Amino acid sequence: MRTLVSEIIKKEGEKVELMGWVAVRRDHGKIIFVDLRDRTGICQLVFLPRRSKGGGAPTEASEEQLFYEKASTLRSEWVIKVTGQVNKRPENLVNPRLETGKHEVLVEGLEVLNEAETPAFDLSTDGYEVSEDVRMENRYLDLRRERMQRNLRLRSEGLKLIMIFLADRGFTYVETPILGKSTPEGARDYLVPSRLHQGKFYALPQSPQQYKQLLMVAGLERYFQIARCFRDEDTRGDRQPEFTQLDLEMSFTNEEEIMQLIEELLLYLAEKLVPEKKVLNKSFPRMDYKEAMEKYESDKPDLRNKEQVESKKDLAFLWVMDFPLLEYSETEKKLVSTHHPFTHPKDEDIEKLDSDPKSVRARAYDIVLNGFEIGGGSIRIHKSDLQEKMFKVLGLSKEKTEADFGHLLKAFRHGAPPHGGIALGLDRLFAILLGEPNIREVNAFPKTGDGRDLLMNAPSEASKEQLKELGIEIKKSKQK
Ligand code: AMO
Repeated sequence: MRTLVSEIIKKEGEKVELMGWVAVRRDHGKIIFVDLRDRTGICQLVFLPRRSKGGGAPTEASEEQLFYEKASTLRSEWVIKVTGQVNKRPENLVNPRLETGKHEVLVEGLEVLNEAETPAFDLSTDGYEVSEDVRMENRYLDLRRERMQRNLRLRSEGLKLIMIFLADRGFTYVETPILGKSTPEGARDYLVPSRLHQGKFYALPQSPQQYKQLLMVAGLERYFQIARCFRDEDTRGDRQPEFTQLDLEMSFTNEEEIMQLIEELLLYLAEKLVPEKKVLNKSFPRMDYKEAMEKYESDKPDLRNKEQVESKKDLAFLWVMDFPLLEYSETEKKLVSTHHPFTHPKDEDIEKLDSDPKSVRARAYDIVLNGFEIGGGSIRIHKSDLQEKMFKVLGLSKEKTEADFGHLLKAFRHGAPPHGGIALGLDRLFAILLGEPNIREVNAFPKTGDGRDLLMNAPSEASKEQLKELGIEIKKSKQK
């Protein structure tokens, strides 16, 4: 039965079978040392030449002898299976940098499960020194390094904690469609052509915003999802074309209840995942948008001082509130929603929607961590007349409103409860908790700055047959 590398410390004197990758092979005269790596860590294997009985040279090439010969051919990243005995290392040879450093395995049998080409880069470092393109092209190798394994494991642990935390509080996990209809979140949609309905397109969700509101109309009352979102916008350190949200929505709620829940959740995650870090203010401070802009010239101020920024162990959460409901877009030359068009205006400002729309404040809140926006949400409009009014203020014609949002307005006329929610950007949250410089470091297969997947080579061309089935003709661009 297989023993994991980390378990050898409990098996002194026992025979074990280990499987994993060769991290390094070192030849010291006749002794061959191999660092074996599996998902739990690294341990040292020792290969000794067969000692012949009676001191003479061994006469026949036994299996044992063969495995020693084979050990001298082992190369980095070969996959092997060994059997051997766990021994304590002599005091002066203990390696304090390894968790298994007090022990080693004296090998008695070796099987090569697979050979490997020489890796494109050193896997024993943290990898920051390797060019990103090379890392991405060889991502399956890059992910073998300890730092990336730690990042993916902590992310997985975080997702598990979130599920437990919310399920315990009466939230129901619901998966919403990926092939859907456009939901505006301020970015361009990714479109998917329909084969059965030629000329028509699904939009990949920029967020599950409308679906989660429809789930409130459906009486779920407390929904959550670890949701993949897709936005065709320029990629940056904290932005990917597809990313993951913790998306949630509640009925019969208010700002205080949602913010309280999120504070508890974030403190729980910080405490469980990164207990070595310090949350600077356990009752998260609040700031209104106006103050943030006036004092910090940012809607996501970093409240840490210079020293705290350098120490990297402090976490400064902050709520930013009282955003304007609408802002003027220079590109679109009209008023657009600061968040999205489903955000409820402050009750006392509703009457100014026509006379002074720019002064209307939203019942919205953003959560900021160390100067990054890690989430945002709002109380929603739940009455169809106010929602219709919002679309009008945003300059949508009656026909356009009906075509794009008729389903939502209709749902609101069927007993929609008051509701609100929030979405946390999990890539950003995990990157900050892990002290990583960008969200690609906490994403197994991220895209490059220009939206490409260098490992799988996507996007790629579609075949003539596929295009024909979809009724699509590609126009050659003039530059080519
Ligand atoms: P919003 O658009 O603010 O709100 O998104 C919520 C959070 O998601 C993260 N985020 C991103 N992370 C990585 N790459 C991106 N391209 C990207 N875009 C956004 C941010 C952001 O705070 N439906 C609303 C939520 C709601 O109202 O409940 C929404 O999606 O951390």
